[in-house]
Amino acid sequence: MSEARDNVEEVRTAFVHEFARFADLSLNGIGLSDAETLLREVGEVKIRHTGKKSAIAGTMKLIGKVPPEERGEFGQLVQSVEKQISSSIEAAESKLREFISKARIERERLDVTLPGRRPRTGHLHPITILRQKIEDIFVSMGYAIEDDREIETDYYNFDALNIPEGHPARESQDTFYTTEGFALRSQTSTVQIRAMERRGVPLRILAPGKVFRRDTPDMTHTPMFHQLEGLCVDKGITMAHLKGTVTEWLKRLFGEDTVTRFRPSYFPFTEPSAEFDFSCFKCHGTGIFEGERCRPCKGSGWIELGGSGMVHPNVLKACGVDPTVYSGFAFGFGLERMTALMYSIDDIRHMFENDVRFLEQFR
Ligand code: DAH
Repeated sequence: MSEARDNVEEVRTAFVHEFARFADLSLNGIGLSDAETLLREVGEVKIRHTGKKSAIAGTMKLIGKVPPEERGEFGQLVQSVEKQISSSIEAAESKLREFISKARIERERLDVTLPGRRPRTGHLHPITILRQKIEDIFVSMGYAIEDDREIETDYYNFDALNIPEGHPARESQDTFYTTEGFALRSQTSTVQIRAMERRGVPLRILAPGKVFRRDTPDMTHTPMFHQLEGLCVDKGITMAHLKGTVTEWLKRLFGEDTVTRFRPSYFPFTEPSAEFDFSCFKCHGTGIFEGERCRPCKGSGWIELGGSGMVHPNVLKACGVDPTVYSGFAFGFGLERMTALMYSIDDIRHMFENDVRFLEQFR
């Protein structure tokens, strides 16, 4: 009897020892996944310490070997150990289950009265904002927006634009060339040729786009920048149409009191050629803003914008257009300088650094 009793006590001790870490389980400060792990471990202990193959089940077999008069007592001992084992396990399990269920509810809790999170909405780049404003004006005047390639052959970048061999713009110190000998277009004037070839005449197009020049970046230069090119070809187009069109879109952009000025100039693809300026949007041409020398126009009252002229007959001919029947005007200007002036940006490199603290200021 005492041997069998020792055996049962050993089983009890072994269980108590192994179960010690679950017996007085403190769940303070533990997380959901810790509790789930503990529950799994308790389950493993349960498999080992209860059921047919467990040590306590093994002790049942000893009942037959105990003298009949002690069997009752021994049986009770076995039962009480078995009960102790299963109730310890059950207690730990139910404590863990309750904890897990509460933690899951807590995790999924949703306070529908909380204010929603506002999504961060994007916005347009200042150059895009200005470009779209100008595009809208031209579309309302019957112009089509023309998009075209940025990598060109010398023919489109120069020859067809009447820019002769040996012209400094053709040099590789001014223009980027690919290893295959293609030019990254150095002006959007290339689109004049493409558009006339594709659409024929009469036509009215506005071509915005990137252009590339081998400049070292500084406050007013970047090797990539944006231009807007306008072209109008029809029968009877004169310099008056050029001046009227340029003046009209600048008035619509900067206000009715805006005036324009054309200065004789030279471009290979126009004849005659003119550069155009407009009266400063800040000081309205006075050169003085709030008692001080106006900044955008440097006190001159004028802002120089771009080049223009009557399309050269050679350019029309290169596109198969008869210059004795058709004439046209063209103009082109850069967007960065204009954006910088309008938003008082002193360094155009900011526009390409993609720093959101900078970009967020323009909406
Ligand atoms: N392409 C010229 C430039 O990049 C600007 C220009 C001048 C465009 C005269 C024109 C024009 O269409 O007629 O400086």
